Amino acid sequence: PLSAMEQEDAIRQELGSLHGIPLFKSFIEGWPQVKAFQARPDDLLISTYPKSGTTWLSEIMDMIYHDGDVEKCRRDAIYNRVPFLEMKVPKSPSGVEQLENTPSPRLVKTHLPVQLLPTSFWEKECKIIYMARNPKDVVTSYYYFHHMAKIHPDPGTKAEFLENFMAGKVAYGSWYDHVRGWWEKKQENMLYLFYEDMKKDPRREVQKILHFLGKELAEGTVERILHHTSFQEMKKNPAANYETMLPTMMDHSVSPFLRKGISGDWKNHFTVAQNERFDQHYQEHMAGSDLHFQME
Ligand code: A3P
Repeated sequence: PLSAMEQEDAIRQELGSLHGIPLFKSFIEGWPQVKAFQARPDDLLISTYPKSGTTWLSEIMDMIYHDGDVEKCRRDAIYNRVPFLEMKVPKSPSGVEQLENTPSPRLVKTHLPVQLLPTSFWEKECKIIYMARNPKDVVTSYYYFHHMAKIHPDPGTKAEFLENFMAGKVAYGSWYDHVRGWWEKKQENMLYLFYEDMKKDPRREVQKILHFLGKELAEGTVERILHHTSFQEMKKNPAANYETMLPTMMDHSVSPFLRKGISGDWKNHFTVAQNERFDQHYQEHMAGSDLHFQME
């Protein structure tokens, strides 16, 4: 167990800068190991900007990898089944250390912007699934997450947090650069998915993933995967809902990790003026891109 002081080190961290990207200082300390990470050809990378459905996609992928065996997918918490590549906090195994001890085929989670992905993922031509979510729901989810996940700096008021998000002054930097950077890098061994599509028609999106993997599953198995990875099921599943994390790291009484799980919750949080300003800013920052988002 960690002493109070060791836990303190991981709490309400000030952000440092990793090649211009704001990031937790403890993660930056571990950067040399991440940069040198040796991907294996059969690694599958799950890449997202924070709060875009990473955990949902991770659970779906683990279920696919285990042919819909619910019991096997309860073997450990999601953050151990799908290690977080660049994660490093004091006195805990780092993401890289966890991955070194994970048997192949590995599922790897990252939030790194495309330009910072360790080069071995490209060299080994690993399959990559990127999931993006509309920025209004991302910023809303990220705000509540800052309150409950104590590694983050204090988010301030909603209005302040919105400003910081728009300016890219939050962990992992600009949402625009992230989604656009990965979109522009899209290639044969990369699948680019959207949270909103997954909400609307999860069966179609799971079929897309299966096609991408070159894998076939019986209809009943797909059915089981869809049921097990629904918001309601994941919310009550201790292997998926993060409630097994140290309470000093995440406080689910402030806001649960699986909070609402819907598209368009931003409408309950943005003022009309904030929304107008955001739309203007969005137009400017997405100009010239063929990447489009459904805001609900
Ligand atoms: P909300 O805060 O809007 O509810 P990440 O895993 O990238 O941190 O993303 C977390 C967001 O995904 C949270 O959004 C969470 O509720 C949502 N989420 C997690 N599992 C989900 C599921 N099975 N269905 C829909 N949304 C899910």
